[in-house]
Amino acid sequence: MLRFLSAIVFAGLLLSGCATQGAQEDGAANAMHAYLAGMPKAELHLHLEGTLSPETTVRITRRNGLDYFTTVEEVKQSLASRPPGLMGFLAHHFKSQEVMQTRQDFYDATYKLAETLADNNIVYVDVFFDPQAHTTRGVSFADMFEGIDAGRVDAEAAFGVTINLIMCIQRERSVESALEMLDQAAPFRSRIIGLGMDSGPEYGNPPVKFRDVYSRAREEGYFLTGHHDVDVRDSIKHIWQSLDVIGMDRIDHGLNASDDDELTKELARRGICLTGSPVMRSTDPAPQDVDRIMALDSAGVCVSLNSDDPEEFESGYLTNMLILFQGASGYSRADMTRLMLNAFNSIWGTTTDKNAYIAALKSYAAAHDVVWGEVMSADDSDKAAE
Ligand code: HPA
Ligand code: ZN
Repeated sequence: MLRFLSAIVFAGLLLSGCATQGAQEDGAANAMHAYLAGMPKAELHLHLEGTLSPETTVRITRRNGLDYFTTVEEVKQSLASRPPGLMGFLAHHFKSQEVMQTRQDFYDATYKLAETLADNNIVYVDVFFDPQAHTTRGVSFADMFEGIDAGRVDAEAAFGVTINLIMCIQRERSVESALEMLDQAAPFRSRIIGLGMDSGPEYGNPPVKFRDVYSRAREEGYFLTGHHDVDVRDSIKHIWQSLDVIGMDRIDHGLNASDDDELTKELARRGICLTGSPVMRSTDPAPQDVDRIMALDSAGVCVSLNSDDPEEFESGYLTNMLILFQGASGYSRADMTRLMLNAFNSIWGTTTDKNAYIAALKSYAAAHDVVWGEVMSADDSDKAAE
């Protein structure tokens, strides 16, 4: 009997030990999530057209009297059934953005996006938009742009988030069409910070195809960036073109660089930043490309985390994506803060603005016992020690 009782007591102690350990782990995870949620953030790779929620899509559809995407279920079904890969993703992406037709639609999409960004403690964002996707179906550049820009101005005032706009070339379209887009954008030049390139397929539409467009954009004062989607044929060659022929200021995605030592070293040497986007779909076991991001980070490449098309991926908006990435990588608070520091360092703003954002990040980290020396990459720490 005594033996039986002590076995019960022992089992009880074991269980309470397990429960205590489980509670401690939950507590640590919750503390990490709270740290990531509260952290002041920047996001540099976010497509306006990928931020239409099913509810907003349906609201705009009904307002415009369209006969598709008339229910939230229909939008969700189209998302869930899209084929894997970039082109499958783009099929849904193009269809859903076509609901936007009037200036008011573009205004609403932008304003609603900024509200969600503020909930994620995002203080700075670069938003991509695809003019050709809209002008080629009859929307005027002015209506589209004035809608987006008015939404941006009102949202900045309401939510305190700074928004810059990057207009993208759709790479499958012609060079002439891209040059025409630059012409149409000329009256709005001062309100568009950069020129990017997206859509697809990428293979067959390399960065050099748009060499003349980028060179004219550079002369007109745009910053330059462009998509290098992951695991696309010739991705590494495309990244070299963007560095050496186009002279891009940033590289979107570009995570295949981690497969090539020479390219990795060159990105680190030149301080060119990548906007990584480890999104997740219901079919993915974990966010994509975590290993590549970690490899680039440990090689001293400036890589940031971004949500890309948050309404079209299960990973959603940035706070959730950071939580997923941290869970998959096991990164510490200091490591996660370094990735966010990379984003602030990649902003195309004035040094004063950049320093103010970084100071805010630094004081947030300090208030949560994060040692700044552990945040900086080995490369930066060497520089600081000099
Ligand atoms: N790649 C290419 N085109 C896109 C993307 C992307 O990640 N998101 C929206 N359009
Ligand atoms: Zn993208």
